[in-house]
Amino acid sequence: MNNRLCEMFGIDVPIFAFSHCRDVVVEVSRAGGMGVLGMARMSPARLREELKWIDDHIEGRPYGIDVLMPTTYTDTGELKFDAERLFPEEHLAFVRGLLDAAGIPPLPEGERDAIIRGLLGELSFTPEESMAMIEIAMQHPIKLIVNALGSPPATLVEAAHARGIKVAALAGKAKHALRHKQRGCDFVIAVGTEAGGHTGTISSMVLWPSVVDAVAPLPVLGAGGVGRGRQVAAALALGCEGVWCGSVWLPSAQSEVIPEIKERFYAAEAEDAVQTRAVTGKPCRTLRSAFTEAYERPGAPDPLPAPLQNILWWGEGRTRVERVRAKDFLTYPVGQIVGDLNGPTSVREIVYGMMEEMLAARERLDNMFD
Ligand SMILES: Cc1cc2nc3c(=O)[nH]c(=O)nc-3n(C[C@H](O)[C@H](O)[C@H](O)COP(=O)(O)O)c2cc1C
Repeated sequence: MNNRLCEMFGIDVPIFAFSHCRDVVVEVSRAGGMGVLGMARMSPARLREELKWIDDHIEGRPYGIDVLMPTTYTDTGELKFDAERLFPEEHLAFVRGLLDAAGIPPLPEGERDAIIRGLLGELSFTPEESMAMIEIAMQHPIKLIVNALGSPPATLVEAAHARGIKVAALAGKAKHALRHKQRGCDFVIAVGTEAGGHTGTISSMVLWPSVVDAVAPLPVLGAGGVGRGRQVAAALALGCEGVWCGSVWLPSAQSEVIPEIKERFYAAEAEDAVQTRAVTGKPCRTLRSAFTEAYERPGAPDPLPAPLQNILWWGEGRTRVERVRAKDFLTYPVGQIVGDLNGPTSVREIVYGMMEEMLAARERLDNMFD
């Protein structure tokens, strides 16, 4: 294929892959697309290690990074060394009560605190922390920086452009996309509500063309619900110049998701990908579980603001749940495309399968015209 985004990065197909997993990033770029590493929840040391590994394996193909730089956040700085004071008692009791009632063993006291302290140390949520992580990444041959939450600061755009690095940002509304354009983004990623992870309320079918029109002539990637070639064709038909996918890689051999969660993905229907604040504190589409369901019941506490709810779930809940593989409680961010993720696969199969189906869709359309 050939369009502005293929030219911008020297890639064969405008399939962009968001993943927290370095193997997925490398494999998508080697298959002709563009891998983008999610840096959330990484310590500076781990980031250096991951980027070095990518550089050693990606065979000179382009890749990018994705940073969570929220415009609003709860400052956890002063609480970093007092895990017990971090969560209101009612919230802690709710999660503990839920898991205790299900017979899921508690974590030893010291271990739980160490986990929470570790999580707090890994979060780079303030603008200063995010910028420090980006500076580490800029010492590697990254070609793209994507800002996940909100418009990137002008300083970041300038610093990236001075090094020949492109900048993009995610948008769930046309007005947010316009703000990204005004901040100097090179393209925008329009994320429909179908998407896994943090997502808005507007469906891809409606959002994509509205963002394309709002930011023209800036290129747009369509995201949210893209897992097969017909959806790539739809994104291109709606004016996008490529796609940005996160969920589709989760069942691949290269993904870090544990086998028990992969099994739950295979069995899930599209409607099992629910939007909830229970996992991160912000509306996040994730696999329905006994944990997300508990927060829907009358009398459940209103989830804490980000990133506290995420630390509560991870530190107190997820570790306990995954340790004993408590099936009903296992959850993971995933989009509505989960209904189509029906078995094990590989990144290369996914990329090639998407392209084949997209070409077949194009042929079918061509045959409808004289
Ligand atoms: C497991 C998972 C984690 C995610 N974490 C992030 C993140 O840290 N930063 C980000 O920009 N987007 C994140 N996303 C959202 C993706 O960037 C992307 O917008 C979304 O996956 C696209 O929709 P899809 O899931 O239907 O492919 C995540 C998505 C998933 C599935």
